[in-house]
Amino acid sequence: MTKLRFLTAGESHGPALSVVLEGIPSGLELLAEDINKHLSRRQKGYGRGARMKIETDQIKFLSGVRHGYTLGSPIGLQIQNQDYINWDIVMNPAPVDISDSEVKEAIAAKFLSRVRPGHADFAGAIKYKHSDVRNILERSSARETTSRVALGAIALKFLEAFGIKIYSQVLRVGSVELPKALWGNITAEKFAQVEASEMRCCDPKTTTAMKAEIDMARTKGESLGGVIELIAEGLPIGLGSHIQWDKRLDGLIAQALMSVHTAKAVSFGIGSEAGILAGSLVHDEIQLSESENNSSNYAHLTNRAGGIEGGMTNGEPIICQVVLKPIPTLARKPENSLKSIDLATKQNDIAFYERSDVCVVPAGGVVCEAMLALVLANEILNKFGGDSMDEALANYKNYLSYCKSR
Ligand SMILES: Cc1cc2nc3c(=O)[nH]c(=O)nc-3n(C[C@H](O)[C@H](O)[C@H](O)COP(=O)(O)O)c2cc1C
Repeated sequence: MTKLRFLTAGESHGPALSVVLEGIPSGLELLAEDINKHLSRRQKGYGRGARMKIETDQIKFLSGVRHGYTLGSPIGLQIQNQDYINWDIVMNPAPVDISDSEVKEAIAAKFLSRVRPGHADFAGAIKYKHSDVRNILERSSARETTSRVALGAIALKFLEAFGIKIYSQVLRVGSVELPKALWGNITAEKFAQVEASEMRCCDPKTTTAMKAEIDMARTKGESLGGVIELIAEGLPIGLGSHIQWDKRLDGLIAQALMSVHTAKAVSFGIGSEAGILAGSLVHDEIQLSESENNSSNYAHLTNRAGGIEGGMTNGEPIICQVVLKPIPTLARKPENSLKSIDLATKQNDIAFYERSDVCVVPAGGVVCEAMLALVLANEILNKFGGDSMDEALANYKNYLSYCKSR
């Protein structure tokens, strides 16, 4: 990230989440609703836990926006944790009086020294020298993805001004997979079906099968992962670069997506098939094209590369897939809980359970959209610059007419 810089802060049950985003030019129309609608999308999805019913996330702008338009200064915003009223003693930033029995009991009730396999608990508690594992899980919790979605919503609004759109859909949950014919070509119409589906899946039959798979997992005290697909359309040729390792766009996108909680693999286009098929079945042939939709006079006949060649956008939509693992907190009976250790007793033990989701794949897609939007917005700013939207858009228009002249 160079032009766009951002930080998130906040504990899952702390007073609030906060975000600072620097680099958005002045003059972008931006309303709280532009962000809140994406926060609500993140909270939906079949398989979520009770926490989603407690929190109805809403942002409050603190800086960088005036009368509905960005100023070019850092955008600061906050999202209150509604649940904080129940955690006021346990998570209070101020020192607490431990000699008060009510305070002592409240803190002891939420103290954790057993760790969950698959979570940040074990490595974090040792690394940061905490005896209360809560000090790790409060920040490693995917509550943090709310902040990312808020940031991503601003990036999406920015990209929209350049005619760039990002879509996501769920391809797989556990063993249930969307038919391959429906991968890789989300139209606005199909995306409306995705948005209406509790699984963020365009096919009603697959949605039903995915929900049944989740119900089954819940009865067994299991969790389920899956795969999501991201598509970015309307991109110009030449975002990213071949000239240096850290300028390659596929690498930048993969890093951003891999930073999402539970993400375990990222692939582009035909993905791992590229390691199996012969070259003529992998590379996308290029021909003259008169289509109005193209950003040049040429088009690829297929899009197996997923829109990126040599670390640069090639004018085709970016298509990538993200594998999300099953979440680590399992609602299992003590006799079949995952084996773990207790850092206080230094004895073998079992993983603890705290209210949790069963499947977060639909929500994960919304978070991945946000991360992709941030990377692409940064690349647009790197390439076209501009302190105001007018300046950035004029530079963009100029480049588009140059591309059409080649
Ligand atoms: C939207 C979303 C919600 C999540 N909710 C939970 C949850 O309720 N319980 C849980 O154990 N993990 C949950 N996770 C996953 C953990 O945050 C994640 O597995 C953990 O931080 C360890 O990181 P890693 O999976 O990248 O190794 C969620 C992830 C996402 C993307």
